[in-house]
Amino acid sequence: MKRFIIAILACLPALGFAAGGNNPHVVHADIDLHDQASLQRGARAFMANCMGCHSTQYQRYERVADDLGFTLDEMNALIHTDTKVGELMVSAMPQEQAAKWFGAPPPDLTLVARVRGSDWLYSYLTAFYVDQSRPFGVNNLVFPAVGMPHVLEGLQGRPVLQEDGSIVATGGSLTDEEYRQFALDMTNFLTYSAEPVKLKRQAMGKWVLGFLFIFLILSYLLKREYWRDVH
Ligand code: HEC
Repeated sequence: MKRFIIAILACLPALGFAAGGNNPHVVHADIDLHDQASLQRGARAFMANCMGCHSTQYQRYERVADDLGFTLDEMNALIHTDTKVGELMVSAMPQEQAAKWFGAPPPDLTLVARVRGSDWLYSYLTAFYVDQSRPFGVNNLVFPAVGMPHVLEGLQGRPVLQEDGSIVATGGSLTDEEYRQFALDMTNFLTYSAEPVKLKRQAMGKWVLGFLFIFLILSYLLKREYWRDVH
């Protein structure tokens, strides 16, 4: 009985520990998959700023709308191409040419939060810095020699690496704090995207454990009943 309970408890911690890597510039991303407003902001930001180059091709617009609480009309308004809500979220960027332009094709980002980890992703979005030796004039602390231009410079500002290793950005339309929130929302959305069933699975897990617990009590009572007259 005791061992059984211990076994159940041992299964409890969520299995979703994603690897952050050993890069000292990777910082913790304090995201919350239950924060629907943040997820919605992240989805909007992703579709407006990233889908020009990146897809999340294992994900449908309609599913995102359902999961994150957008109406289909709202979702339609967010789609920048003439794609329909029932379709997969595929960027119009021609991959082969993109590989020539950027040195590497923009990878699909559906699973990036699981492959790289949410912390890495958030850190990546906040780790671009000016480096004139690079083709697009920027480099990245967590992804050295990255091929991606700093497409968020208009929001963040011009990020200059300081001697102490921090990055100070000036001239963007967002404050430092707002930009960090923006990066968190984006990370939150891509973390959801990497495992859309996570929310449902966690909710269902409680019911399953509840059922097992009740079943345990019933079995125990039944066992007592059967063995009552056996001595
Ligand atoms: C102008 C095209 C372009 C846009 C817009 C763009 N990216 Fe990229 N991105 C790239 C390219 C090209 C790479 C590949 C870089 C490399 O491998 O060196 C890349 C790589 C990445 C990676 C690394 C993936 C990996 O695991 O290697 C992430 C994460 C990423 N982009 C996120 C974003 C996000 C989030 C946005 C929206 C804010 C965005 N990108 C917008 C071109 C773009």
